[in-house]
Amino acid sequence: MGCFSCLVSRKKVVKIEDTDRARSASRTSVDGQGKDCLDEHETGVMDANSGGAGASDKTPPTKNPAKSFTYRELCSATGMFNSANKIGEGGFGKVFKGRLETGEIVAIKQLNHEGLQGSQEFIIEILMLSLLHHPNLMSLKGYCTAGDEKLLVYEYMPKGSLEDHLFDLGPNDVPLDWNTRIKIAVDTARGLEYLHCKANPPVIFRDLKAANILLDNDFHARLSDFGLAKLGPVGDKTHVSTRVMGTYGYCAPEYAMSGKLTVKSDVYSLGVVLLELITGRKAIDPSRSRAEQNLVNWSRPLFKDRRKFVHLADPALQGHFPLRCLHHAIAIAAMCLQEQPTYRPLITDVLVALEYLASQPYNREAATSGNRSPSQRPPSQQDRGRY
Ligand SMILES: Nc1ncnc2c1ncn2[C@@H]1O[C@H](COP(=O)(O)OP(=O)(O)OP(=O)(O)O)[C@@H](O)[C@H]1O
Ligand SMILES: [Mg+2]
Repeated sequence: MGCFSCLVSRKKVVKIEDTDRARSASRTSVDGQGKDCLDEHETGVMDANSGGAGASDKTPPTKNPAKSFTYRELCSATGMFNSANKIGEGGFGKVFKGRLETGEIVAIKQLNHEGLQGSQEFIIEILMLSLLHHPNLMSLKGYCTAGDEKLLVYEYMPKGSLEDHLFDLGPNDVPLDWNTRIKIAVDTARGLEYLHCKANPPVIFRDLKAANILLDNDFHARLSDFGLAKLGPVGDKTHVSTRVMGTYGYCAPEYAMSGKLTVKSDVYSLGVVLLELITGRKAIDPSRSRAEQNLVNWSRPLFKDRRKFVHLADPALQGHFPLRCLHHAIAIAAMCLQEQPTYRPLITDVLVALEYLASQPYNREAATSGNRSPSQRPPSQQDRGRY
């Protein structure tokens, strides 16, 4: 029960719930919203970064710097880390939904006790998120160290991770539509662009993957998990050498082979995430046939023939996407996934290309009413192979 069992022993454990919408595709035990609290918090972050995607490295520190919480406060917020409030679990530990004394809903990550790695990543996460502030980066509310316990307190993201909405959907889960997928891609690229181009020195995220893209109620995306982030090369250095870390399936080949880390490693990982958004397939999926288990290896031959691009589209989209934009999105992903890092585009260029796609939204009504613009037609024989 731990040293703060007095907090809950006589009270029924309260499952943290809100009155608003539920997380649509969550497979966790807690329905999440916290809309009011999120709005309140997001206002603070946006104010501190009024430049949005264009926020500069001169961006003033956030108005709500990370606070040191007591273990008692976090026990109380989560009902003694009750399993009813567990919303996820990753390599570093369990994640709980909690309600602070102020009424604010937060996500609390409780790090595993074992290993030096966890401690290092805990410190890097706090340092990075204390320095970096942007609407597309996760915001750290605070942290707690008490004996062996190490906890991080984040803004609560009611829709969970992108992974929750793309893969293994249940019969009642609504697949993401095309426009939302592009919006998430743009937000992700904006977060990376801030790290690569606005932060000084640049920051290499190193662990970009669908599980680390978290979503609020409006599917506004933020990058999370900075424990593996690295300061990029400075001066005339082209790369930093590091122990290879990250997630299999998302890792750039040159980084996986030599440990040479550059901003282009993140661009490769973004290419994998783009492919996941387009295809609805996981970067690595052991449940598929051998030839289809690795998404990049399966997709690469299809990149060579535009007539085959349409086969890459997620069947869950049911043809509801602008074919021209699908072609562009695949072309962008293919460029990010170039074997040679120097041939991959800079994140600034990827962002411009994705913003263009976002400016050409799919209009389902127009597409199905017959009053279609060329960019709104579902795939047809005539369209195949050209854009
Ligand atoms: N701030 C948050 N708001 C809401 N849910 C969150 C938040 N942070 C994490 N989660 C949930 O907890 C899950 C686990 O997150 P976590 O970052 O611990 O692991 P991971 O990213 O899946 O894997 P790993 O960190 O081991 O690479 C996420 O997929 C998400 O569903
Ligand atoms: Mg994560």
